[in-house]
Amino acid sequence: SPIIAILGTGSYAPEKILTNADLSKIVDTSDEWIFSRTGIRERRIAADNETTSMMAAAAGRAALLDAGLTAADIDLIIVATVTPDMPMPATACFVQNHLGVSAHSACFDLNAACSGFLYAMDTAWAMLSSGRYKNALVIGAEKLSKVLDWKDRTTCVLFGDGAGAVVLGTSRGTAQILGTKLYAEGAHARLLCIPDGGSNPAETVTDPLRTPGTITMKGREIFKIAVREMEEAAREILDQHQISATEIACVIPHQANLRIIDALAQYLELPSDRFFLNLERYGNTSAASIPLALDEARRSGRIKSGDTTLFVAFGAGLTYGSALVRW
Ligand code: ACO
Repeated sequence: SPIIAILGTGSYAPEKILTNADLSKIVDTSDEWIFSRTGIRERRIAADNETTSMMAAAAGRAALLDAGLTAADIDLIIVATVTPDMPMPATACFVQNHLGVSAHSACFDLNAACSGFLYAMDTAWAMLSSGRYKNALVIGAEKLSKVLDWKDRTTCVLFGDGAGAVVLGTSRGTAQILGTKLYAEGAHARLLCIPDGGSNPAETVTDPLRTPGTITMKGREIFKIAVREMEEAAREILDQHQISATEIACVIPHQANLRIIDALAQYLELPSDRFFLNLERYGNTSAASIPLALDEARRSGRIKSGDTTLFVAFGAGLTYGSALVRW
């Protein structure tokens, strides 16, 4: 089967910045509390009329430009998101239309929450490896501001909006995907969810203080499980490919919480400067987090030819996963 590689990356973040100080005017919180517990200083918030598919298309356009390809070269679009434009149809179909990609392309969404980008990359990789598709646009995009309870200080301070994209295609010898590993622990599905709005009537929200259609989370439980899952996903993929952690030039983790990433660094016995971080400026952008960080890492020269990078994520589901790329 052909060798599949990342041919280009792109990202998009909305203009509007919401700082911790701004948040302290909305809920009872402070910059000190948020920064010391999460590492987040500010996040981006999409405009009212700015949809997930618009952000996804902007990131996709940048990735195409970076790859030196055009919309005509794309025959597969996968959008990883938990905040689609609408429940139906798929956001990927709107993206196809925004970009002018041919009708002879497959378009669908994928929901694996914050692990969504790694799930989508794995899926596209398998589809391209079959030889039946040529070039895929793999996008993580979220408008989480739309599903946050702005009265709930335990969740609304953590998340932000944005998008990141990669173009996958046949390798020109660089940026090769070496492997991916995906997991899910459905037993923990309710620790982090948007319980209402789906087909389960039992989940109709009775708490009058809660805004319907918003994220609920057991933060402490998630924290502990996330550390274990991130470690497991990183350890197993490194073992599988017989690569030692010290050979990893750059780790791009899901940007949820600096303390979770610090715990991972300690476990891998890697200095923290081996991790690329941008959560201070974006917060947790779920499926957009890794491709947004990847694009910034590449554009800032943080990833060099020959480097091996490790991606590692966890999210609602609880899903988790990892990937290795040699540039
Ligand atoms: N400002 C001020 N005080 C707050 C805030 C806030 N924004 N939020 C909570 N508090 C208070 C709580 O009410 C609590 O007060 P109490 O002791 O009087 O009850 C106190 O601060 C401590 O709260 P904890 O929840 O115990 O704080 P903790 O240190 O665990 O930090 C946090 C909370 C940051 C949410 C942490 O648990 C965490 O990061 N967990 C992981 C969450 C995560 O990463 N989720 C994303 C998953 S990825 C995805 O798929 C979306």
